[in-house]
Amino acid sequence: MSPSTAQKAPEQPSHNVSTPLVLLTSKYLTGPLTRLSRYYYLRPPYATTNTYIHPQSRTLGRSGHSLTRLRHSATNLSSTNGCTTTPKRLIPATICPVEVTNEVLHALAQPPVSHVSPAFAKTFQECIHMVRQVICTTTGQPFIIAGSGTLGWDQVAANLVEPGEAVLVLHTGYFGDGFKDCLVTYGAQVDLVKAPLGGRVPIAEVEAALKRRKYKAITITHVDTSTGVLSDAQGIAKIVKRVSPETLIILDGVCSVASEEIRMDAWGLDVVLTASQKGLGAPPGLSILIASQRALDIYKSRKTPVTSYYASWNKWLPIMKAYDQGLPAYFGTPPVNLITAFNASLKQITATGSLDERWRLHAQVSRRIKAVAEQLGMKQLAKEEGGRANGMTAVFLPEGIKAADVLGRLGTKGVVMAGGLVAEIKDRYIRIGHMGTSVVDDARRGDIEVFASALKEAMAEAKAERELANAATNV
Ligand SMILES: Cc1ncc(COP(=O)(O)O)c(C=O)c1O
Repeated sequence: MSPSTAQKAPEQPSHNVSTPLVLLTSKYLTGPLTRLSRYYYLRPPYATTNTYIHPQSRTLGRSGHSLTRLRHSATNLSSTNGCTTTPKRLIPATICPVEVTNEVLHALAQPPVSHVSPAFAKTFQECIHMVRQVICTTTGQPFIIAGSGTLGWDQVAANLVEPGEAVLVLHTGYFGDGFKDCLVTYGAQVDLVKAPLGGRVPIAEVEAALKRRKYKAITITHVDTSTGVLSDAQGIAKIVKRVSPETLIILDGVCSVASEEIRMDAWGLDVVLTASQKGLGAPPGLSILIASQRALDIYKSRKTPVTSYYASWNKWLPIMKAYDQGLPAYFGTPPVNLITAFNASLKQITATGSLDERWRLHAQVSRRIKAVAEQLGMKQLAKEEGGRANGMTAVFLPEGIKAADVLGRLGTKGVVMAGGLVAEIKDRYIRIGHMGTSVVDDARRGDIEVFASALKEAMAEAKAERELANAATNV
């Protein structure tokens, strides 16, 4: 920004953020941030001058890129009432929650409306319809419930599996263990087929397991967030249909919906479960599950009672059917603001009418990030070329560099990435999220270049420190 357009601030609002760098009125920002304060500041790494921008200055313009930078920075604020402090805002290159758009933030910041108002019923109805579009189903029944992705596991275990029934869990990382534990909690007999670290479960092993025992359901973690392994959901579904057609096919799509190709009807999936905070581009807090009509028939013909109260489809199915028709209904107050924000995100996701372009962009950005990481000497955890997620990347760090050495440095560059989740190697690798608006709006926002540059710099610094340490040891 040009110093010539800057001038000294006539006064500063009370706050406890050190050295504001740029001050401008909220009219340059859209959405909820305008409610935080009339004033916003740019701080590193988004600004480098110790100046105040006059409210009328046109330097920053209204382009998405500038506004994005402003928005990232504006959340560094403390509130002016002296009571609360908003921590410094970093761009999330984490796997969750991912960055959300201004439209989503704006929707989130509206005054809460009644969950039985006609306006909210319409918002919910639209969500249900758009969720069907996103996972390519016309007949699936969405359940949108307050909770996190984990609640989807509970819904499956409580409604579709009766105590004592067998379930085959395909394990490609940490989240396979979680799904297994959840099923066991509700009384299922679980067999685990475990892939080697970074690998996928071979289709032949799935086939052999299905031939050995009759399973009520099989679970697939589409992308295991701990490893970045992308399972071949379509291929597995095909083999299940051939070898054990009555087995329900459950896809954990928490880390894949809206960033990886999923075609629920065409692939014959019975459940796709996910959450709001990843590819779907909304804040955390919604469990989103879509059940096929076949799954609903199985649930309705259970011999034993559903084994949960809050997760029971006895409670939720009538509610979802009502909202599907645009009619309000009540069981457990829905998180109206989150659903309104989810609606805003879904409208952006479905705006073009085709998800192919979204999937293509995720694949393209994924290749770019993976190439940068490899150039920096980082090996991918996911071994097979076709078995790597498009919405995230898990990479081993070069010998002698620990995750904490890199993650801390990334933070100083305004970017946050995630550490490891697989216990035995957790310090040896990092995880980079590239999902949602940072990907599909990259041309305007430039987040991906920020991620790549921050990673290059952090790695260069970490390597330099390692060299120094090595030199000191060799003296
Ligand atoms: C693949 C997968 N399944 C399930 C979950 C659990 O979701 P949540 O943390 O929203 O409960 C996660 C969380 O990251 C996940 O990545």
